[in-house]
Amino acid sequence: MRILSGIQPSGSLHLGNYFGAIEQFLNFQEKGAELFIFVADLHALTTTRNAEELRKNSFEVAAAFIALGLTGEQTILYRQSDVPEVLELNWILACLAPMGLLERAVSFKDKVAKGIEANVGLFNYPILQAADILAMQPDKIPVGKDQKQHLEITRDLAEKFNSTFNGNLKLPEAEIPKTAAVVPGTDGEKMSKSYGNTIEIFAEENVLKKQVMGIVTDSTPKGEPLDYSKCNVFALFRLLANEDEAHDLAEKYRNGEVGYGDAKKMLLEKILEKFGAARKRFAELLKNPAAVEKILENGGEKARAEARKNLRVIREKIGLK
Ligand code: ADP
Ligand code: TRP
Repeated sequence: MRILSGIQPSGSLHLGNYFGAIEQFLNFQEKGAELFIFVADLHALTTTRNAEELRKNSFEVAAAFIALGLTGEQTILYRQSDVPEVLELNWILACLAPMGLLERAVSFKDKVAKGIEANVGLFNYPILQAADILAMQPDKIPVGKDQKQHLEITRDLAEKFNSTFNGNLKLPEAEIPKTAAVVPGTDGEKMSKSYGNTIEIFAEENVLKKQVMGIVTDSTPKGEPLDYSKCNVFALFRLLANEDEAHDLAEKYRNGEVGYGDAKKMLLEKILEKFGAARKRFAELLKNPAAVEKILENGGEKARAEARKNLRVIREKIGLK
């Protein structure tokens, strides 16, 4: 089975990225699947305007993938921009895509509503994503729930290509986690780099602490019963803890045995426990950028060879040769 997914280097990786996407990558890797995982730097150009920042974030997302364990023999890590065939397919798909299909895309509307510039690249975003996917012919795409519509657009475009050109592009399936479809941020909204409500996996410990302590709660004082089902601290704790631990904390909420401050400290401890080893590896990789670069170059070559092979067939179908 072939798995493909990408993450935009538009900021530091957070718990939403981990539980929405990366944890699934690791599960697939463990099951022996072939993984194509990339840093979506071309997508980041829709919103990033700072070259140094983009370079730094791209490097850090790659280092984070490696530190978190995406190092399997069958795992191909690459930079999207190292596979220019994706851009050729982007154009081919753009010529098939009805305007209305993109006009219905909620992520475009959401981003513009948030004040992001409505450039043509941003409008075209789902087509580029479809090209990332269809260039590699994967079976499954592990992503958070917010990406569901982009996957539907990808399937629509693949079907349109197949019916128009008698093609045989594989229709990929989205793989959305059940327990963490939408991970809440520190303010209770969806955790997202662009909302400034993230808890960053690789932040310095004092920054991480500040983020956790900054989670918004109600103002029930310590000693009174708390409603765990409405608490962001508990929702995050539950993702990191085992069932007994979650059950135990729920009980303490009900009995008024813990205050929000205590629960936040427990959450911070869980984060450091879960990601401690990865955080150490990440720090080491930052000191050895050549090692990260080598992995990306190697992955880029493999991904490019796959895209070239698939593009040859596509070109032939549409009459470019
Ligand atoms: P962001 O919204 O912070 O910019 P990205 O769009 O780069 O994050 O998301 C990368 C991956 O992480 C996608 O698969 C996305 O669905 C997933 N993801 C991001 N935020 C969350 C969240 N809060 N809950 C679940 N999955 C998420
Ligand atoms: N749009 C995805 C996000 O914001 C990133 C992405 C780009 C992606 N191309 C992809 C995800 C292809 C899966 C498959 O999270």
